[in-house]
Amino acid sequence: MQRFNEKLVVISGGASGMGALTAKRVVEEGGTAITLDINDTLGQEVANEIGNKCEFFHADVTNPDSWNDLEKYLGDRFNKVTSVINAAGISEPATIEDETFDHWNRTHSINGTSVFLGCQFGVKAMKDSGGSIVNFSSSLATRPKPFVIAYNYSKAGVLAITRTVALHCAEMGYKIRCNSVQPGAINTPMMQRYIDAAEDPKQQLADFAATHPMNRVGDPDEVVKAVLFLASDDSAFTTGDSISVDGGVIAI
Ligand SMILES: NC(=O)c1ccc[n+]([C@@H]2O[C@H](COP(=O)([O-])OP(=O)(O)OC[C@H]3O[C@@H](n4cnc5c(N)ncnc54)[C@H](O)[C@@H]3O)[C@@H](O)[C@H]2O)c1
Repeated sequence: MQRFNEKLVVISGGASGMGALTAKRVVEEGGTAITLDINDTLGQEVANEIGNKCEFFHADVTNPDSWNDLEKYLGDRFNKVTSVINAAGISEPATIEDETFDHWNRTHSINGTSVFLGCQFGVKAMKDSGGSIVNFSSSLATRPKPFVIAYNYSKAGVLAITRTVALHCAEMGYKIRCNSVQPGAINTPMMQRYIDAAEDPKQQLADFAATHPMNRVGDPDEVVKAVLFLASDDSAFTTGDSISVDGGVIAI
């Protein structure tokens, strides 16, 4: 399939995990990927591996200046952007009792504000020619776990931003769709950090698996397939929705 021929796709969090894999798949399907990340070394390395149709651009996506700089960098290509995929995120454990004010705000900045800014960038870039925005939420947005209070809240916010942007674009007659994905535990560096930090890493992986009715964690490709569906014209009549890729968590 070459669903991304002539398409220009901006991907935040493109240095690692599902953002990096999305960039790879977009290029494999004929598109150009612009990856944004704060991790310059990895971001550049991943872009080099993918090839010359993947460009890495340094951006702290919580900072509006980064999005303005990206607009300048793209120049004539700004209005040719066809998809914006907001994948940057962090997940660090804290319950209601041990969460700190600073960490709470940091989580919302990276998981929430960055999505707001990415959507704002996407609407500005695509309002004349149309396109698609895909935001990374989480199964925890609707099926929260007590050990990640800030994460749960930030990912629930992503669902709200997604629906609001979708409705605004439809109301304005822009041909921009906005959807999200809600992955369960997926085998990426983000999940690996939890496993590495556990006293018994094998047990931690088994515990993650056991929270899913299908009794396993997910593969990044399983999520990226849903992201590509939403980012491409295959989902032309889908907006304001969320696809769960969570081994059945949504059904619990
Ligand atoms: N892995 C999972 O189990 C899982 C489950 C549900 C949802 N998600 C969500 O999927 C998305 C991708 O996660 P992943 O598992 O691939 O994680 P990852 O840690 O592999 O990648 C996240 C990337 O975001 C980047 N990033 C963080 N802060 C940034 C900032 N301020 N500016 C620019 N880039 C920044 C990181 O440098 C990193 O490259 C995240 O939004 C995450 O919350 C992940």
